[in-house]
Amino acid sequence: MFTLPENTLMIQQAAKEFVEEYQIIETSMKRDHTHEFPTEIVKALGENGFMGMFIPEEYGGMGLSVLDYVVALEEICYADAGVGVIMSVNNSLVCWPILKFGSEEQKQKYLAPLASGEKLGCYALTEPNAGSDAGSQQTKYTEQDGQYVLNGTKIWITNGPQADICVTYANKDVSLRHRGVSAFVFETSTPGFSVGKVEEKLGIACSGTSELVYDNMVLDADNMMHVKDKGFAVAMATLDGGRVGIAAQALGIAQRALDLAISHAKQREQFGKPIATKQAIQWMIADMATKIESARLLTWKAATIKDQEMAGTCELSREEISRACSMAKLAASECANFCADKALQIHGGYGYSKEYEVERLYRDARITTLYEGTSEIQRVVISASLLK
Ligand code: CAA
Repeated sequence: MFTLPENTLMIQQAAKEFVEEYQIIETSMKRDHTHEFPTEIVKALGENGFMGMFIPEEYGGMGLSVLDYVVALEEICYADAGVGVIMSVNNSLVCWPILKFGSEEQKQKYLAPLASGEKLGCYALTEPNAGSDAGSQQTKYTEQDGQYVLNGTKIWITNGPQADICVTYANKDVSLRHRGVSAFVFETSTPGFSVGKVEEKLGIACSGTSELVYDNMVLDADNMMHVKDKGFAVAMATLDGGRVGIAAQALGIAQRALDLAISHAKQREQFGKPIATKQAIQWMIADMATKIESARLLTWKAATIKDQEMAGTCELSREEISRACSMAKLAASECANFCADKALQIHGGYGYSKEYEVERLYRDARITTLYEGTSEIQRVVISASLLK
């Protein structure tokens, strides 16, 4: 029988117990209404090793695999996808690029506080004119006496209002497009940094999303990550892994929608019988379950590939790795929207009420086909690797 490794099953169980201990399902509706950032839960996620799961122990992490991470993340997102995205960004978009591309000094400085939850990270790539066209980075950096001066605005940054550490990108010459881009990691206490407009969103309400403004923000030479002018490759490689995290988030939403739909269909009676006896409902349940199972296998496959890549044992090309990650995200995010929609349909009018969790799932699912690359961008990545 196909099954997860024993250790991964233990991590999955630990994540389920965490959800139970901190009553994340029970409190999810309240956070959706208040939009309150879950400070205590994030602190506890850090204390329990969920904020830097694949960071090696020598840098203060758990030394687990990406597969362990996606399985745990699905459980957290099953309970509350808003909490889950905070964890996802910290792990995939901040810890991972520092681990992969950071200098030894950067790893020593940033990874332990990020992994313990003492500090929170954000990843700032998107700009008003650089959304799907991420290579069109307008945030500019100039070099002055061995330092870098950054000016520009980033938008839609998850964890932006709360972050202590930021991985970001700036261009030395916008006419060079992605070839002038470098990656930086810095503390948000740096003078010249400020949080701009905080967004009111359709879903994942408890996570913070904002503009970030760099106004003559001076960074030292050792804030630059990787190699000068090679920052776009850092951004893209990081997003490959981030997309696997969002796939896990989408799976959590989809599975919760399916479980709620099944439970409602069994207890809601119409025409003298539970609606679960109707073929119209049965087919929706069957389609939901099949889509979840397929997307989950793609997600586990992509996570395993990312583990092999990190271990240096992956025989796939860069394009094939990107394809696997994009396929997982495309399938899982479309599946989350499908399942949330069908779960709401099965709930009928109740599903449209804010008293019912499926109403929130419907809104939470919507972001998954947008951030970390829209479904259309995933199709661009997948087809480019096939048609090359
Ligand atoms: N790894 C390493 N390098 C990569 C790469 C990868 N996965 N993908 C591309 N590259 C390299 C290419 O090899 C190429 O290198 P050379 O210049 O040396 O040839 C370079 O990057 C440019 O590649 P492309 O020509 O393919 O780039 P493009 O301009 O056509 O863009 C794209 C490709 C796929 C559309 C890309 O821009 C993209 O992914 N867009 C979507 C952006 C996105 O996902 N944004 C999400 C924001 S983050 C977010 O949402 C976070 C949050 O807060 C939750």
